[in-house]
Amino acid sequence: MNTGFALKGNICYAPEAGRLVVRENACVVCEDGVCRGVFDELPGAFSGLEVIDCGDRLILPGLVDLHTHAPQYPYRGTGMDCELMQWLDRYAFPEEARYADAAYAERAYRIFADTLMRSATARAVVFGTIHTASTLILTDCMEQSGLVSYVGKVNMDRNAPPELTEQSAERSAADTRRFIEACAERGYRRTRPILTPRFAPSCTNALMALLGSIRGEYGLPVQSHLSENPGEIELVGRLCPWAAFYGDVYDRFGLFGGEGNAVMAHCVYSTPEEVERIRKNGVWVAHCPASNMNIASGIAPVRRYLQAGLRVGLGTDMAGGQSSSMFRAVTDAIQVSKLYWRYLDQTAKPLTFPEGFYLATKGGGAFFGKAGSFEAGYAFDAVVLDDSVMPCPRRLPVGDRLERAFYLELDRTGITMKFIAGRRIL
Ligand code: GUN
Ligand code: FE
Repeated sequence: MNTGFALKGNICYAPEAGRLVVRENACVVCEDGVCRGVFDELPGAFSGLEVIDCGDRLILPGLVDLHTHAPQYPYRGTGMDCELMQWLDRYAFPEEARYADAAYAERAYRIFADTLMRSATARAVVFGTIHTASTLILTDCMEQSGLVSYVGKVNMDRNAPPELTEQSAERSAADTRRFIEACAERGYRRTRPILTPRFAPSCTNALMALLGSIRGEYGLPVQSHLSENPGEIELVGRLCPWAAFYGDVYDRFGLFGGEGNAVMAHCVYSTPEEVERIRKNGVWVAHCPASNMNIASGIAPVRRYLQAGLRVGLGTDMAGGQSSSMFRAVTDAIQVSKLYWRYLDQTAKPLTFPEGFYLATKGGGAFFGKAGSFEAGYAFDAVVLDDSVMPCPRRLPVGDRLERAFYLELDRTGITMKFIAGRRIL
């Protein structure tokens, strides 16, 4: 079935970091869920397509949240007065323990998936909990939301309260296989499993080794946390004295890119050796500026990572981050980059808006293949924004209107349509 159509309006996308393309009153064409390009006049080959006229509205690629925690959504905006390890013990672990109860998971995950559905986010990489049944409720909710997502059953067999510690490495691995196979049986169209060792302090060597073999067997991507907080890094040094640096722990077990995709959240304190391994292995860095502020982790040197040629995207990291808004993630990333430059390193130029926009679209979108841009061949993910709900007494250039929409969080009130892989969601 050909499900072709075109959206007509002010089309904005960033085909490379720092280059914002604005095409006013143009058409972006979708056929079979795939973008065929942007045209001032519709070429003859597309002349029969329905044209949805969006008038003076802004049309942008759906955003990509490269790192978030679905079970932490209920306590977002609270518990902000401690650092990572204490925050996990006091807030994250007690909340995650509730997901032993499938009825609670059902209620909580419906709210989470509904929030993402109504947001400007088209794709997300999501942590669940250790609980297989509850995480399958999460995958069901994500599939129904229409978003494209990777969802992980979390692995942790040490350094957590007893109710959140898996019985053994073998049991954790067996549950992970059960989760992967249940996802396959459900025949999802847009929801995929991802291996999710929480972070090195939560996983014994035996568990990491088993996950490494599951990764190879099923060809799955991996998500985890890396070099987020000084106390955490020190703990990893004590737990894994054999590792050359924190990321080397994952790499020793085949969980750090190379053959499969991997995304590591935070990377606030990655050493030059770690940055080089991230680059060599093609690991994605999920920059989570709100979380890094809230739990006082610091500021990730994103400019340095871009200069080093790393793959970088943005994450909300709820509930370390308080907001589900990827618009907010973009402006937070830009704002913290200015503090980094001003206070810490005058050679690390602040991020510009087109750079931040790129990171939240094509930068993170690359984790999903061709996503996050309106170049021909990319998945057709689009958000239509009506910025007339924020009146302005004079006419602004379209690029300024887009920037203003992000800073003023127009994704709360101004989304009029949303498409994911060509399918209308809103
Ligand atoms: N490191 C390990 N687990 C977590 C988590 O839930 N949130 C954050 N921000 N960092 C982590
Ligand atoms: Fe996280």
